[in-house]
Amino acid sequence: MRHIISLDEMTMDEWHSLYSVCEQIMAHPEDFSDRCRTKIMASLFYEPSTRTNLSHQAAMLRLGGSVIGFSDPQVSSVSKGETLKDTIIMASTYADVVVMRNPKEGAALAASLYSSVPIISAGDGGHLHPTQTLTDLTTITRYRGSIDGINIGFCGDLKNGRTVHSLISALVKFENVNFYLISPRELTIPDFERRLLKEHNCKFFEITGLDPIIPVLDVLYMTRIQRERFVDPLEYERLKGVYILDKGKMTRAKKDMIVLHPLPRVDEISGEIDDDPRAGYFEQARCGMFIRMALILHVLESGRIRPEKLAAKEQPQLCHNSRCITQTEKYLPPMTGINGDKTVCAYCDKEI
Ligand code: CP
Repeated sequence: MRHIISLDEMTMDEWHSLYSVCEQIMAHPEDFSDRCRTKIMASLFYEPSTRTNLSHQAAMLRLGGSVIGFSDPQVSSVSKGETLKDTIIMASTYADVVVMRNPKEGAALAASLYSSVPIISAGDGGHLHPTQTLTDLTTITRYRGSIDGINIGFCGDLKNGRTVHSLISALVKFENVNFYLISPRELTIPDFERRLLKEHNCKFFEITGLDPIIPVLDVLYMTRIQRERFVDPLEYERLKGVYILDKGKMTRAKKDMIVLHPLPRVDEISGEIDDDPRAGYFEQARCGMFIRMALILHVLESGRIRPEKLAAKEQPQLCHNSRCITQTEKYLPPMTGINGDKTVCAYCDKEI
């Protein structure tokens, strides 16, 4: 857990340790108010954000540290054509930790190749969003006491929702979690997630309707249809508004079901349920700041890092995913991984 690119390498011990620090921070924030004095966090947001950007900044400030960075690449030298590599070398020269959001899949892994300090991914395109997952795990644990044994429904854009991909990848490590994957047929989970669920022998059901399944759920994870990831705007127009959680649907849910949403929402959760005690999404965003405080403390223990020297392969296998960071940052070394029986691009996880 030197860089936070995905949570694949997070052990259960590390999760319990992070969660324990998070609980201590929530109980006694004053004990932590000076822990990052003299430390600087660079916050590089190439894509819009409210929660992830502000909560990381608030987390560092509450730890007594300082923040530099940009929330719009147009105000940085990225607008003059600077590469991701050069930007990261600079940011990691000035700061002790870098938090980065980028629209390209695999951008966080690419950044980690050139950074001399820990990289925390704040989301890479439609791929992964690991700190949102820590936020989600924290919220579920606080509401339910445990994650093992839950029936969780993911509803909405499961193809493009990076928060969904990251959370599924983490939940397969817990015991007896049952997955109900509710989406239009055009927006089902990507193959790498389906393979992961099979590899871990998880029970999962891919369905199109929310109504029949809502009574069995312990957690309902709503997501936005991600307009910015659609190539065809007409397809977005056809699919938007397909799921709307309202009071009527909530009457059929368990009394202790919790509704989560990474936010922002558009219309998929009606404002009329905001006051329902089962609406956990604003509390979820609040938990995000505290678990990110625990995470910043954790990665700062790594200190300075010597970026790995990568040997070029003689016959590299190139990724053809148009959303992959390797398509725009051409100097990146091609790297592959294995997912199930498939060879995948190590940056974006798409099959090669
Ligand atoms: N949950 C989340 O990623 O929200 P933002 O896009 O506002 O950061």
